[in-house]
Amino acid sequence: MAKSIGILTAGGDSPGLNAAIRAVGKTAIHSFGMQVIGFRDGFRGLVENRTLYLDGTALSGILTIGGTLLGTSRDKPHRMPMGDKMLDMTDTIVDTYHKHHLDVLICIGGGGTHKNAFRLMQKGLNIITLPKTIDNDLIMTDTTLGFDTALGIATDAIDRLHSTAHSHHRIIVVGIMGHNAGWLALGAGIAGGANVILIPEIPYDIHHVADAIRQRRRSGKNFSIIAVAEGAISKEDAEVMQAAIDMKEKAKNKEEKKKGKAKLDKLEVQQTDNVLSFSKQLEKLTGLESRVTILGYLQRGGTPSASDRLLATQLGTCCVSLIHDENYGVMTAVKGNRIEPVRLEEVVGKRKTVPLEHPLVETANLVGICLGN
Ligand code: F6P
Repeated sequence: MAKSIGILTAGGDSPGLNAAIRAVGKTAIHSFGMQVIGFRDGFRGLVENRTLYLDGTALSGILTIGGTLLGTSRDKPHRMPMGDKMLDMTDTIVDTYHKHHLDVLICIGGGGTHKNAFRLMQKGLNIITLPKTIDNDLIMTDTTLGFDTALGIATDAIDRLHSTAHSHHRIIVVGIMGHNAGWLALGAGIAGGANVILIPEIPYDIHHVADAIRQRRRSGKNFSIIAVAEGAISKEDAEVMQAAIDMKEKAKNKEEKKKGKAKLDKLEVQQTDNVLSFSKQLEKLTGLESRVTILGYLQRGGTPSASDRLLATQLGTCCVSLIHDENYGVMTAVKGNRIEPVRLEEVVGKRKTVPLEHPLVETANLVGICLGN
């Protein structure tokens, strides 16, 4: 009997999601005669049984469109807000899967989605995941869907900010997404010719940053572009953060663990505000005017790049080939110019951050970009 595929998109949206859905649908229908049912708004669509039948008409004309026609959410199956309660809806999801006689569920998403998909796999569902996040922080894959487009958008923004920084003789601090990984800021910073790049993996000293800017001024350049990853952290804050992490890890009971987590969450929120105070502090230290531009959700919106369209199409077709072979419990990973399955166990709960010895870090150092340390 022809196989039935369920598909959902979860976590933050990114350019290329529709291209991936299209690739899965077209391959499934045209090459294997399978049928595809989309679930709306991530895992919530499975709980509430909200579907979209993905036939040729629904799949047509979506290759270049940003966002996801299925909608997305950050809902977790095992802790889902239902009315005023937080409930474990895993069993309902398993029921919906069987009600639709699905052979497999394709989950498109980042780190959180992989954890949730893995939990469903442990409940006996056939799962295949497609790695998507502009943060590029999933392990076991060279890259993730959406990263290339976001990199292009952030680079273009830095290019544009250059001319205004130059005209006004200002510092411009550019806030770049990436969660706790510095891939986007490092990539866009180098590609856009930023003078300083701050990433979470390299805690910074603001005095070093100020020195670098003063040095530029002495050489006649009285403007600077600073690319700051949203997770970038000062050396002092990194110590406080580490203490909170230790507190959470060494917690003897639930109460202590909760306290540790609350402290960590608070510190992470404070981090976001830090960009503004960082900019103010730099003004004082350098005597130059400083302005902040936080790129935010612009980096996740709009048309996917050609590279992301190619990647989405390759990842999507690979998902369906794996389904044909009944090779479940895997993520479709990019390895060089090939797409290969990787066991979900190897991906879940881990994060790919920028290694200090990464060639891009060396490149940045060699061209004289200040990395804040
Ligand atoms: O994971 C993608 C991402 O855009 C991160 O870069 C960012 O930290 C986060 O999502 C923002 O999440 P939300 O969409 O829930 O505000």
